[in-house]
Amino acid sequence: MADERPAEISDAEQVQLLKEQLARAQRMTALGELLGTTTHEYNNVLMTVLNYAKMGIRHKDEATRDKAFEKILAAGERAARITNSILGLARNRSGDFEPTDLAQLIDDALVLLERELRKYRIAIDTRINPAPMALVNPNQIQQVLLNLLINARQAMPKGGQVIVSLAQDEGTKMVELTVRDNGPGIAEDQLRRIFDPYYSTKKGPDETGKGGTGVGLSACRDIIESHRGKILVASTVGKGTAFTLRLPTADQRAVTGTPTIALGLPSSSQTPTS
Ligand SMILES: Nc1ncnc2c1ncn2[C@@H]1O[C@H](COP(=O)(O)OP(=O)(O)O)[C@@H](O)[C@H]1O
Ligand SMILES: [Mg+2]
Repeated sequence: MADERPAEISDAEQVQLLKEQLARAQRMTALGELLGTTTHEYNNVLMTVLNYAKMGIRHKDEATRDKAFEKILAAGERAARITNSILGLARNRSGDFEPTDLAQLIDDALVLLERELRKYRIAIDTRINPAPMALVNPNQIQQVLLNLLINARQAMPKGGQVIVSLAQDEGTKMVELTVRDNGPGIAEDQLRRIFDPYYSTKKGPDETGKGGTGVGLSACRDIIESHRGKILVASTVGKGTAFTLRLPTADQRAVTGTPTIALGLPSSSQTPTS
């Protein structure tokens, strides 16, 4: 016990430590971004309630008061929807996989980001095709979806379009969720690095506190791999980027997966190669 020098750390232990550090950074970033989004959304709802309550007090006529109550009611309903989607996130903390309707997850994510996307002039188009339930941890897939939507929004600072689509892949029978934007695209040399931990082309978090850490896509990849699914990206400079998630259905044996990179036009007819 005289020698207090710490034992040498082996390479394997070092790698393990770094992995744990990355996982912590990924979790903290996801939590921070979610907290930022909801606080912002709640503040907006609160402002609406306060302003229309003041209006109703100032103006005694029935028409104005009716309008004020309607606005307050709508704001309250929106707050409830936000709470529900957050509770949806908090519900599954066990890490268990369960049969999940991805259309519902898409809906929840869009409720959370609705105002933010409108503010940055991002038009959202959802194309939900019949698809079986996916066997996933809903909380984690929600996190992936939020990451992809926020990345798409940040890639288009002057606005643009995002198409979120859900379908069943004919070949693999897996559930396929795609987030496609018509932003600037990603150059080939960068495309190979985007899943690397801490790789970011952003200067730091934006005014909403999101992005710039480079842990978003690495977390997405880790999550999708732990589901034995696949995350694919296809991008064309000047045209846009599409991220596709393939996830096992609730009644299907999963396939192993690593991120797949496809260069070329992210058109809806393209099947990313694996
Ligand atoms: N939809 C997209 N369009 C263009 N570039 C993107 C898109 N999504 C991700 N990227 C690129 O991938 C990088 C890594 O993304 P991410 O891991 O989420 O980190 P961060 O968002 O913190 O920069 C981004 O900095 C950006 O350069
Ligand atoms: Mg990101």
